[in-house]
Amino acid sequence: MGALHVLDGFTIQSHKGPYTVTFDERPLEELTSSLTGTRHFIVDANIARLYARELAAVLDRPTTVVIKATEENKSIHRIIPVIEALVTNRVRRDHALVAIGGGIIQDVTCFIASTLLRGLRWDFIPTTLLAQADSCIGSKSSVNLGEAKNILGTFNPPAAVHISTRFLDTLEDRDVRSGIGEIIKVHAIEGAAAYDKLAGHYDHLATDRTVLLGYIRDALLIKQRYIERDEYDKGVRNVFNYGHSFGHAIEAATHFGIPHGVAVTIGMDMANNIAAMRSLIPEQECLRMGQMLRKNYGDFRRLPIPLDPLLSALTKDKKNTSSALVLILPVGEPASIQRHEVQGDAVFRSQCVRFLEDLKA
Ligand SMILES: NC(=O)c1ccc[n+]([C@@H]2O[C@H](COP(=O)([O-])OP(=O)(O)OC[C@H]3O[C@@H](n4cnc5c(N)ncnc54)[C@H](O)[C@@H]3O)[C@@H](O)[C@H]2O)c1
Repeated sequence: MGALHVLDGFTIQSHKGPYTVTFDERPLEELTSSLTGTRHFIVDANIARLYARELAAVLDRPTTVVIKATEENKSIHRIIPVIEALVTNRVRRDHALVAIGGGIIQDVTCFIASTLLRGLRWDFIPTTLLAQADSCIGSKSSVNLGEAKNILGTFNPPAAVHISTRFLDTLEDRDVRSGIGEIIKVHAIEGAAAYDKLAGHYDHLATDRTVLLGYIRDALLIKQRYIERDEYDKGVRNVFNYGHSFGHAIEAATHFGIPHGVAVTIGMDMANNIAAMRSLIPEQECLRMGQMLRKNYGDFRRLPIPLDPLLSALTKDKKNTSSALVLILPVGEPASIQRHEVQGDAVFRSQCVRFLEDLKA
């Protein structure tokens, strides 16, 4: 890797006090050995395999737990053996957990840290682009119960986040697109100027680490403004669900055959198109935003998305009221991302059908 300009970190205010985000490009041996105190590492199995040499000191510790990053392992039942391992390893209240992995390892560690011994410190070394640019801040943990994804959760921020883009070299293309999907979402929320600037750099994101690092930081700083005002997601933070109601439904309807941030990218395009069909935004706005979205989901548009499972998952979304679907849609020109209630009627169904047909065309 060439010389990378290391960016300044920052501090986030949360209900549990401030926590830090640092950009740290030191060798991974140094980064992990700089963590002090008694640590119990929870490490993604792919990271353990790909970074066996750099993380040897972590992996050799008898207390380190290595788990596969799968949605099944994010279920409440599969988390129990991890808790049992920590208890066997004599975890104590003044110890800390350290997650090394993407959003799945984050969710598992954050959830355990909020309940085990009534709360433990946890630190996070995010290894996916999605986790570095989005999920590492904001305090949420979400775990699955059977088919119900993310239905159990807590608000429990890490004590410190250490971002090293060294990890990104080994990410698969699908996971790079997934992370870029969340970066796009945050810039859409920021407004047309931020969105169009990102669109101008889109083709360099996967190839130019300095450009990417700048957008990771920008995405986190935009998100910071919302989570500091509304950490518990009861008001202004709701707009961060843009693309997510549709995205979660697409993930469920395709049995998670599509990475989270790519499903969100298709979900944003779906939200925009449905908004245009309902005259909430002019067609022109939908076209403006659609170009970058289509580039980012690429050939994933060919994956069949069955309508009935999609609509069924949409109606189960946590945000819905008893009488309406609560969606986050673009409104106006230039589009601003807003909460909007929609009746899940025959008109809405036909608009979903039209989008899915156009997607495959
Ligand atoms: N808590 C939150 O705020 C929040 C926010 C967004 C998403 N999520 C959750 O995060 C999960 C998705 O997370 P994700 O996209 O970060 O991915 P992930 O944790 O599912 O990992 C994706 C794949 O990348 C592999 N991987 C991780 N780091 C790697 C690296 N550096 N090199 C090569 N492979 C690597 C993993 O082993 C896995 O196979 C979903 O379960 C989603 O619900 C949580």
